[in-house]
Amino acid sequence: MTKKERLDQLNALMGMCSNCALRCGASRVVPGSGNPEAKIMFIGEAPGKKEDASGEPFVGAAGKFLDEMLASINLNRQDIYIANIVKCRPPQNRDPKPAEITACWPWLEKQIAIIDPRIIVTLGRHSLNRFLSEAKISKSHGKTFRRTLPRIGERVFYALYHPAAALYSGGMRQTLLADFQKIPALLHKLQKKSK
Ligand code: URA
Repeated sequence: MTKKERLDQLNALMGMCSNCALRCGASRVVPGSGNPEAKIMFIGEAPGKKEDASGEPFVGAAGKFLDEMLASINLNRQDIYIANIVKCRPPQNRDPKPAEITACWPWLEKQIAIIDPRIIVTLGRHSLNRFLSEAKISKSHGKTFRRTLPRIGERVFYALYHPAAALYSGGMRQTLLADFQKIPALLHKLQKKSK
């Protein structure tokens, strides 16, 4: 089976998920989108109102900013895969609870195992802390980390501020833009190593 076929199968199962109560208040599950063969996978926090309505991750204001940053390094959504830690919208866009993150985790593990990206870019602290529980986003942004995790093996992570947070803070926006510019060189280095 191709990666696309495997992801389609996984997404169909995700659509029937009842692992936590978030599904009850959400219009739909938002599994993720992009290129199943991508070398780079972005992981955000949880769907918001627009994502819940459309079924696609990062389609609101934060998504538009993300698209601009991708374009600034000559990438677009078809070059990447993007998903969230939690696949259903939390009520009133509140932060996902630890129990909800835990309940949703097996889906993300399976997505990562199928896509098998060279690098995982975490967007914001919830995403970062799911992989590196001890890390502080203020110290970790713009840095790579190598970690071995059960079921997803050894992975390289690159921490970024969340685009939604950066939308409302000029300083954070500049930092995020600067951190984003390091992605092409990182990818290049990792792809060379894997050959
Ligand atoms: N913020 C996220 O973390 N994910 C989305 O899909 C949209 C906004």
